[in-house]
Amino acid sequence: MESRFLDDMGSFRIEHGEKNRLNYFPLAAENGVMASITPELKGDLKRDQNSFVLPPASEEDLRSGMAGRNFWCRFENGELWSAAGMSAAQIAEEFTPAEEKCIVEAGLLWHRTVRENRTRQLRAAVTSWVPSANGTVEIMQVILENCGEETLRLTPTAAIPLYGRSADNLRDHRHVTSLLNRAESRKEGVILTPTYSFDERGHTPNQRSYFVFGITEDGKSAEAVCADLDRYTGEGSLIMPEWVAKELPGDSLGGETAGKETIGALRFPETELRPGEKREYDILVGTAEDKAAAEQIAAVWLSPYRIRISLEETKLWWDQVNPIRTHTGDSDFDNVLRWIGIQPTLRRIYGCSFLPHHDYGKGGRGWRDLWQDSLGLLLSEPETVADDLVAYFGGVRLDGTNATIIGNRPGEFKADRNGIQRVWMDHGYWPVLTIWQYIQQTGDIEILLRVAPFFQDGLGMRGTQRDAIQAKRSCTGTVAEHMLLEQLTAFCEAGEHGLLRLRDADWNDALDMAPQRGESGAFTSAYAGSMELLAKMLETLRQTGKCSSIDLPKRFEILLGEEDNWASIASRREKLNRFCAQCIQIPDDDRIQIPLDKIVRHLDLCADTLKAIIREKAWIQTEQDGWFNSYYDNYGTPLECGTPGQERMMLTGQVFAILGGVAAKSEIPQIYHAARRLLYARQAGGFRLNTRLNPEDFQIGRMLAFAYGHKENGAVFSHMSVMFAYALYSRGYAREGFSAIEPIWRLVLDSKKSRIYPGIPEYFAPDGRGMYPYLTGSAAWMMLCVVQEMFGVRGENGALCLRPQLLPEQFDVRNRTSIILKFGGKAFKIVYTLLERLEPSEYTIVKAELDNMPIADGRILPSEMGALDKEKIHIVEAWLGRKVQ
Ligand code: G1P
Repeated sequence: MESRFLDDMGSFRIEHGEKNRLNYFPLAAENGVMASITPELKGDLKRDQNSFVLPPASEEDLRSGMAGRNFWCRFENGELWSAAGMSAAQIAEEFTPAEEKCIVEAGLLWHRTVRENRTRQLRAAVTSWVPSANGTVEIMQVILENCGEETLRLTPTAAIPLYGRSADNLRDHRHVTSLLNRAESRKEGVILTPTYSFDERGHTPNQRSYFVFGITEDGKSAEAVCADLDRYTGEGSLIMPEWVAKELPGDSLGGETAGKETIGALRFPETELRPGEKREYDILVGTAEDKAAAEQIAAVWLSPYRIRISLEETKLWWDQVNPIRTHTGDSDFDNVLRWIGIQPTLRRIYGCSFLPHHDYGKGGRGWRDLWQDSLGLLLSEPETVADDLVAYFGGVRLDGTNATIIGNRPGEFKADRNGIQRVWMDHGYWPVLTIWQYIQQTGDIEILLRVAPFFQDGLGMRGTQRDAIQAKRSCTGTVAEHMLLEQLTAFCEAGEHGLLRLRDADWNDALDMAPQRGESGAFTSAYAGSMELLAKMLETLRQTGKCSSIDLPKRFEILLGEEDNWASIASRREKLNRFCAQCIQIPDDDRIQIPLDKIVRHLDLCADTLKAIIREKAWIQTEQDGWFNSYYDNYGTPLECGTPGQERMMLTGQVFAILGGVAAKSEIPQIYHAARRLLYARQAGGFRLNTRLNPEDFQIGRMLAFAYGHKENGAVFSHMSVMFAYALYSRGYAREGFSAIEPIWRLVLDSKKSRIYPGIPEYFAPDGRGMYPYLTGSAAWMMLCVVQEMFGVRGENGALCLRPQLLPEQFDVRNRTSIILKFGGKAFKIVYTLLERLEPSEYTIVKAELDNMPIADGRILPSEMGALDKEKIHIVEAWLGRKVQ
């Protein structure tokens, strides 16, 4: 199985879908339903955790012999054949691969299974999508074609199980909840409207309806409908249903099936297909807020014409989601980016839930993921994300910790998915990074002065004390205050080596067992970087002359107090305690103005302090190279070690040391050398997250309980690999950066091995299989890395600057590459020509033009940008020639 691109829009074909049963594809619409679909049409469809249309499907359910969506053809002789390959005969592999084959074709965002059976002389193409214009339904367009030489007579039946309740009910009153079902059979299909919904909200009367509707290409309805799953399967099963095999009578139309598991089975009139002839059937599966709304959907959408238009509309909609187009010497790379570019939007829709690997999620979005996914969205629509970004700060507590789950509605925050309070020590880092990017892209420095509330859930003292509600306070603050609070409190949460305490984990969620003595060197470096970024932003604010000080609660004087010994662990801890106690005791109304220059100086000193501590405590020198220890466990011992033959190394610490400016430029080659030596495996996707660590160490987290090579224990984990690339590029190591990401897309496209569709997965399993595809923060980072570092198109306080680091082999045969993107609300095509074969470190922009007019320094200022036409694509040409040393 090898994926092959069919055009330059990312559409692809995979020849042997049947060999890839676990592979799933997402179908979704913004604010609508979310689906997963496999070559056998398995997977599920839901609106949220409590409204699953099809039965919830985890990864293992895709392997099972049970059918999901199905479409039957019953031949004159009574034999059954399934367009999904899900009949007893097909599962028993009664057909050889030469007799029956299955091809998958897919694009943005539609999925087609083409199953052809030579013995039966029948081809069925099932195209599925969720229309952009109506996110409440999944459309299944079935086209049957006679691919033989004799006329066929067959009776088609669509059969879609309707689950109609909360995913929790799968193992919680599955049967009892079926007693709530009321399904109406009608000529359009089946509408299921359970009387009650049993979920965590209690037993509430239910209005929501779930439905399966269908129509033939000439507007005919089904001639028989069955809503009762028992009657449908009889003593057979979903892969050999009696109702289809024996052509049992349909339900009486308008009648109700009560208290039964439900199916929407729609038998269409028998049809004759002459050689080469095709017949189309359109099926709608979905959910609506009540029965009347479901009927309305049937009235509008049961139209083959509407449905055909909708496919084109949907393709166009998804095409626009990611306006970034690249043209390099490698069309595979250009095409795979079309998929990676929509992944941040997929994550905005799905969160970290609702695809088969993400069965742990229940909706809502994790704090870290939220900020990182925004990074990807910033690249295409920065102007539209500002309000969201400000609103997200409403998740920060007064003590600098934060909610970890953000709901779908503005201002909806939860301490944790499962109601367990935990503190992830990296959480304060990501907002700074995202706001920094936002300001660079837009120049909107005043976002720092916008006001957001604080999150009050009764937790105080950095998440260690409950019911710590402060008596009287204003409970709002500027974005600057929120970020400053997160940075300064993090700085003071010092562990015994002076690094920042790991608490309940950092970026690596699986480092969750060292809350007392664990320390994260990785995020100590990260915070050093984010403190500097915040200092720079505040300095820019000061320089605008708009304000010279900011308004803060008086207790900030504690955190901002001058120090004789900045690194003193005792003093940092003492400050934090005093500050947190005051959060509870002293109202916020007591506020003061603190000069920005004082804050900037303070942040820079904190950053320098952290850098010095890391450099002193964490550097591991070996004979050949060196790197930074990333963590201390709950015994206070370092996880990594440089003893020859027993070397242990982790990638995370290196990424943030390079990105945060902790690693000196001269140390980067050493770190890279060590990573190549100890972590790199090209065939596995590039740089692993870690070498084998000490599996006896139960003092760091569940990570070490995972089998080595899987997930956070030593897999090539895309997020960190891509951040490694980003970090290397950002310090001028382009070829090294490229080496961290290139193996990822090569492996993805080697679909025989990766067994996923194009895109970037969360990680690769030891056999090369891409895991947790589509929903991963690495997508946002990949786009950022490609646009800002590789193509070097970045914002600097709203100005567009070009600093490409493309490798010579990335140029096409004419030595050109280009990227189309949006910046400052305008569309640009940036074309680079490499005048001679040079490495990025050797070339510079020797000449640049915007719409044929020269531009200086490869830079377009916001004022110049304002004058540009919004409707047209502006061409920037830049020629890259040898640097004059
Ligand atoms: C996932 C989580 C992310 C976490 C990472 C490592 O990564 O979503 O929050 O930091 O695992 O534990 P992702 O799915 O974004 O690639």
